[in-house]
Amino acid sequence: MRKGRFSEPAAELAQRYSESVSFDWRLYRYDIAGSIAHAAALVQGGIVTAEEQRRIEKGLRAIEKEIESGKFDWERPLEDVHMNIEAALMKRIGVAGGKLRTARSRNDQIALDLRLYVKAEIAEVLSRLRNLQAALLDLAEKHVNVVMPGYTHLQRAQPITFSHYLLGQMEAFERDVERLRDYLVRTDVLPLGSGALAGSTIVLDRERIARELGFSCVSQNTIDAVSDRDFVCEFLFCLAMIGLHLSRLSEDLIIWSTSEFGFLEFSDAFSTGSSLMPQKRNPDMAELTRGKTGRLYGNLMSILTTMKALPSSYNRDLQEDKEALFDSVDTIAAALEVFTAMLPGLKINGDRMKAAASDPNLLATDLAEYLVKKGMPFREAHEVVGKLVTQSVTEQTALDRVPLGELQRLSPLFAVDVVNVFDVRRSVSERRAIGAPSPENVSAQIVRWKKLLAKS
Ligand code: ARG
Repeated sequence: MRKGRFSEPAAELAQRYSESVSFDWRLYRYDIAGSIAHAAALVQGGIVTAEEQRRIEKGLRAIEKEIESGKFDWERPLEDVHMNIEAALMKRIGVAGGKLRTARSRNDQIALDLRLYVKAEIAEVLSRLRNLQAALLDLAEKHVNVVMPGYTHLQRAQPITFSHYLLGQMEAFERDVERLRDYLVRTDVLPLGSGALAGSTIVLDRERIARELGFSCVSQNTIDAVSDRDFVCEFLFCLAMIGLHLSRLSEDLIIWSTSEFGFLEFSDAFSTGSSLMPQKRNPDMAELTRGKTGRLYGNLMSILTTMKALPSSYNRDLQEDKEALFDSVDTIAAALEVFTAMLPGLKINGDRMKAAASDPNLLATDLAEYLVKKGMPFREAHEVVGKLVTQSVTEQTALDRVPLGELQRLSPLFAVDVVNVFDVRRSVSERRAIGAPSPENVSAQIVRWKKLLAKS
């Protein structure tokens, strides 16, 4: 690459500083696929003969095999994955290998490799998300009748079921699935043929290349095509959101596994001990996931910051997109895998959940709604029950033990049927509107999810 323009080799230090093959080697498969498609286009454009194309393709396939078997010698002085593969090809087939560079620059080449990589990784993340959802759904199916307190502000609020909680998690991960699918459309654009920034006087059939590489469309502006890393930013955002969801799930599980809650226990296989305290059983997998989410955000911030003041078209700063991208991909893949494996082993303590849910204060809102059903405006009912709760606290009488006479002193609408309010199962069963936690609803939701997961 330097032979023509430079009389001195690059400083060793500069080479070390700028090489990227130590991490971008991961793109080899896409680089090779791109080169094979490009060679075919060059035949059509009259630059490469059919015979040369055959040798190029054969050579590239052999290099791919060599890389896959771990025998390929990546050379840092050759800078990046593109130059390493090109040099290896020249070594194998001679000058014909050099023709591949026609009407192509590493600028459109790297944009292509990255898009192919991201497209493959979207599919991978989607399949891992589906596995996680299957594990969540399995757990939900087993706990349809397990009542527990729902919390707001981490304070006991109203009764729910553990299944209803889990199906809430399903929704969040479903948005992640949808987000990735929406986003795939914007990634599925072929940048190859944009050259360094202004295409080439050698005109190739880009639509054909796109078809060959499985892209559904072709970029429409050469400057933008080499300049654009929106698809990296968006992918890192999608992955950061998955991290956010996993982190919130982690937080719930961590809290619920404390002795104070005792709602669940992580299996031995996914718990860690303490080097000092023999009794400890720590939820490190969930904590690490919560922690790694910080890294995912950092990676997103890193690419956004790298991009923000770049002049248009290609700048070498763009090379800094890759480590963050690879790191987020690896981090999410591992986190999803761990959660999928860990969930089935969670030991759910339904009795503890039920005991916590039998706090009659969880039904204070139900009591207000009882009055509403008898004709009282909710605002007033809220006040009546508020007074009752205060009274029950100062007199140390549980809300469901306040005698009817006392209740009637606050409102004549209270009658003997008020005892029915204090039944937590009834409370959950009556929450029947779409999306609410009645076990009938939850069972119907489970059926819906099963169909949905079977479909995709
Ligand atoms: N390694 C570069 C990147 O990752 C691609 C090479 C383009 N280099 C250049 N000097 N134009 O973005």
